[in-house]
Amino acid sequence: MSQELWSSVDEFICSLLAPEDASLEAALKAGTAAGLPPISITANQGKLLMILAHSIRARRILEIGTLGGYSTIWLARAVGPAGRVVTMEIQPAHAEVARQNVARAGCDSIVEIQVGPALDLLPGLATHDPKPFDMVFIDADKAAAPDYFAWALRLTRPGGLIVVDNVVREGNILDAESPDPSIVGIRRLYEIMSGERRAVSTAIQTVGSKGLDGFSISLVTAPA
Ligand SMILES: C[S@@+](CC[C@H](N)C(=O)[O-])C[C@H]1O[C@@H](n2cnc3c(N)ncnc32)[C@H](O)[C@@H]1O
Repeated sequence: MSQELWSSVDEFICSLLAPEDASLEAALKAGTAAGLPPISITANQGKLLMILAHSIRARRILEIGTLGGYSTIWLARAVGPAGRVVTMEIQPAHAEVARQNVARAGCDSIVEIQVGPALDLLPGLATHDPKPFDMVFIDADKAAAPDYFAWALRLTRPGGLIVVDNVVREGNILDAESPDPSIVGIRRLYEIMSGERRAVSTAIQTVGSKGLDGFSISLVTAPA
């Protein structure tokens, strides 16, 4: 089993089940041209987010961690023209690439990009846009994942979903002594999810073009 094989299988799956249109391809190219790191989700992961959003008839989605807006476009397409996606990004340069990518994809009337550290932006969102979200996709700094999860629980309606990306990290989450803040954050997230009574959670490890990683998914079952 090798990275080469995992990537080839991903290519096979994406070519048949999650082909990218010109806007998604252009979003990735623009990110590369602007020097953004190649850490966006894959097309088949984007399609999974879209299917999850459709399955709960999501109209309002919060994303934490925009990068160049690749996942944002998948989420915007899931909510449709009458929907709303709020996405938060700490790096102004990333947010600018995302703004252009989202506009090129025709999703700018659906997507609001907020620029700044998400933990600074979330209290304002809760105050000024208090309507519950149907789904939250957490894909930013992993050290703060427990805080983002707490905010997501507060902002998501019962029946809504919270998805957290990169919760396996090549298996490094097994290292209880790791000083890496990302590992500490993700391990704490698992503890919180396992004891949280307002949501039921699981996590799935995955292999693919981005290596060995995984995502968690939580169904919110009770109001905050
Ligand atoms: C993995 S990338 C997001 C990828 C994107 N969701 C996609 O799949 O296309 C993580 C992003 O989170 C941003 N980020 C990191 N720390 C953050 C913070 N404290 N607040 C908001 N965004 C942050 C990074 O700058 C980076 O652009």
